[in-house]
Amino acid sequence: MMSIIIFGSINMDLVVQTHRLPQPGETVTGDHFLTLGGGKGANQAVATARLGASTYLVGRVGGDSFGQELLASLNNFGVNTQGVFIDKNSSSGVAMINVETGGENTIIVVPGANGKVEQSDVHRLNNILPKTSLLLLQLEVPLEAVQSAAIAAKKFGVTVMLDPAPVPDNFPDRFYPLIDIITPNQTEAARLVGFEITDQEKLNQAVNIFLEKGVKIVIIKLGEKGAFYGTEKERDFVKPFAVKSVDTVGAGDGFNGGIAAALDRGLPLKEALKWGAIVGALTTTKEGAQTALPDFKMLENCLNE
Ligand code: RIB
Repeated sequence: MMSIIIFGSINMDLVVQTHRLPQPGETVTGDHFLTLGGGKGANQAVATARLGASTYLVGRVGGDSFGQELLASLNNFGVNTQGVFIDKNSSSGVAMINVETGGENTIIVVPGANGKVEQSDVHRLNNILPKTSLLLLQLEVPLEAVQSAAIAAKKFGVTVMLDPAPVPDNFPDRFYPLIDIITPNQTEAARLVGFEITDQEKLNQAVNIFLEKGVKIVIIKLGEKGAFYGTEKERDFVKPFAVKSVDTVGAGDGFNGGIAAALDRGLPLKEALKWGAIVGALTTTKEGAQTALPDFKMLENCLNE
């Protein structure tokens, strides 16, 4: 059986639930506070592990109590954390998340150990890559290390999937030919292609640009409207899966994890997109990111609906 590697960030999410988000300079009284495992890398690892994929996470936590808690929780979710380095000289990554009733949120991330990820962390991929189907990347760890991880994966013929979040100021064109699948949301896609994506024509133009730059499959997440995907041969919308959302944190991570887990099982792209849409939607039906990710049984029930 093949595995999925996620090379990316691990955060402790400090989540405040509030009836409305404060304006600058304003204080509001929140409803309640939660401390939950997060980070786009860790969330995507939990997503694929919950769906039954053999999942390795490679990254860093700090030498603090958050680091220990995060590792224990990831192991409980079935994520293999042998590739996670405990950086005693750093604090663990932290995300301050405000969630408004109804689901909107704001997030400030302090990278901590995630910001120290570098070539020595990429070396830890080498033992696992020969048995890996897909490497899943995000941009919450330094771009240079992410790019090196993609280069290492390519040497083993492993599929490289990038969730370009958050988009850096200068995303290098030389990265695109290393990417098999890119999954920006509408805002991220707009920042990468340099124009607002307001309608289907703009979606098509954005897909064209990514394909011309060397990406093979472009998937643009459209939130509650589903997604749009394009390859050299086909383009189509992915229907959203209707749910009652309470918290959208981690929805994009669920979407990516769903697609990765389906592709790892050898399912065709269209089926993988359906998995992504369902897993992403289900993630919004509960508080938090990792705690809200569905397992395979929940996904299967929705697929049969
Ligand atoms: O994608 C959601 C994640 O973004 C949160 O878990 C938070 O840690 C930030 O990295």
